[in-house]
Amino acid sequence: DSHRNFLDCFRLRSANSSTISKVIYLQNNPSYSSVLNASIQNTRFTTPATPKPLVIVTALQISHIQSTLYCSRKHGLQIRIRSGGHDFEGLSHVSEVPFLILDLLHFRAVDVDVKNEVAWVESGATLGELYYGIASKTKTLAFPAGVCHTVGIGGHFSGGGYGILLRKYGLAADHVIDAQLMDARGRILDRKSMGEDLFWAIRGGGGNTFGIVLAWKIKLVQVPAVVTVYTVNRSLEQNMVKILHRWQYIAHQLPDDLITDVTIRKVNSSGRQAGKKTVQAAFKAFYLGGADKLIPLVQERFPELGLTKQDCLEMSWAESVLYFGGVPTQSLEIMLNRTALPRPTFKAKSDYVKQPIPESGLQGIMSRFLEKEADVALMMMVSFGGKMDEIPENELPYPHRAGNLFQALYLVGWTNGEDEGKYISWIRRLYSYMASYASKSPREAYFNYRDLDIGTNNVGYTSYEQASVWGLKYFKNNFKRLVQVKTMVDPTNFFGNEQSVPPLPSPW
Ligand code: FDA
Repeated sequence: DSHRNFLDCFRLRSANSSTISKVIYLQNNPSYSSVLNASIQNTRFTTPATPKPLVIVTALQISHIQSTLYCSRKHGLQIRIRSGGHDFEGLSHVSEVPFLILDLLHFRAVDVDVKNEVAWVESGATLGELYYGIASKTKTLAFPAGVCHTVGIGGHFSGGGYGILLRKYGLAADHVIDAQLMDARGRILDRKSMGEDLFWAIRGGGGNTFGIVLAWKIKLVQVPAVVTVYTVNRSLEQNMVKILHRWQYIAHQLPDDLITDVTIRKVNSSGRQAGKKTVQAAFKAFYLGGADKLIPLVQERFPELGLTKQDCLEMSWAESVLYFGGVPTQSLEIMLNRTALPRPTFKAKSDYVKQPIPESGLQGIMSRFLEKEADVALMMMVSFGGKMDEIPENELPYPHRAGNLFQALYLVGWTNGEDEGKYISWIRRLYSYMASYASKSPREAYFNYRDLDIGTNNVGYTSYEQASVWGLKYFKNNFKRLVQVKTMVDPTNFFGNEQSVPPLPSPW
């Protein structure tokens, strides 16, 4: 009966009980399912077998969040904080123990100050709402975060956050200059009152770990009014493996005004090969400047690509985000639409690559993409270097800085839930094949591309050693400092999940 007790407790603490029906959703509420599913991005976690929250709290004001903390502690419900619901493993809305979702969807204000080139953004806003807020005021300011506009600010900033401005400016977390955080005791802290250790930890050390980040103050960055993008597709029959091989030597050394990435997937062949399957690589770029400068630069540094003027499109930075997100760019208003993107059922994994993969190694990847389980699969390689080479590894919890050629994301999707095992086993095989080419000791992974295969906490107490199995992969040597901060600010592990940094046990 913990959900009923929770409700009674919440009611007792509310001055205005008439709003409660708009804030608390129990499983018997007719709107429960639609509220639950509203932002679940990976539909692997919308099946009848998926564990469901006993309560969903869609807080309208700070006191609702404080009451949620108080009453969930009193009645033994674990809290899962949800901002945009894009967690790859569903950790903002799934748990194995009795739990509730604290949904921040109503905390979504965006306040852009063009003159001082800063903004405050609440965690429940999406990247699209932030970008729209910037773009509706100016074409020459931007923010270096992710490309899918439906991603939530809360989880994204908590895990680092990168996009097409990565090589020029680094991560979203690198540009957070203040924050508003509620700790486990319900106190609201800012940068000054939380102290530099905790402020360091929340900028990349993972969500649902140190507290509830309500809002972030960010420094905006400058961009030209016109940027250029291109996509050049090359299939196996068009020398793709050789071009991709060369790309690995070139991409991380290009000027930091240019970022390139490559996505490979299986497609139908055309021409004489029609009817057969092949693998295609989409070579994409984003350049901070006009096509007149980009074309000679790419033709000189990466002639193997065969870039032509027709491949290039000039647009604004905000439009280019939609271009990279695969959204038609007629109107920026679409950035405000939280359901504009398809919601696949998928499993994903990530890697960092520090040495070019030989052609024979690339061939092995291609043959795995020709297998039948890879019909809906992709591998996306994003070039590093530039600003990422300049930021020390311990500047923020996110450690994957100098020395990476590129980051790889592997993803496989499916439609028939019964076949899930087959597809997950395909991606695990691809990942184990990649072991010889990816970073080692530790095999690094990107926290925001959450992957529970790399290790998890126990439901109860988790030792430092056990958590290090996954923690060192996401955070390398920064993991130790994260554990120290956690021990200091949340020693009872009130905020926790399968991959939250654990506190050290109390010596008493
Ligand atoms: P969600 O609400 O699921 O939260 C994720 C985690 O953070 C959970 O553990 C949650 O409890 C916690 N959390 C959420 N809000 C919190 C808060 N206010 N305080 C404390 N903890 C909080 N990444 C990237 O770097 N670049 C990219 O371009 C993309 N693109 C992309 C596209 C798509 C379609 C998906 C599904 C994902 C991405 N990502 C990405 C990954 C994305 O950055 C990652 O999934 C984020 O954690 C999503 O944040 P949400 O708030 O949407 O997730």
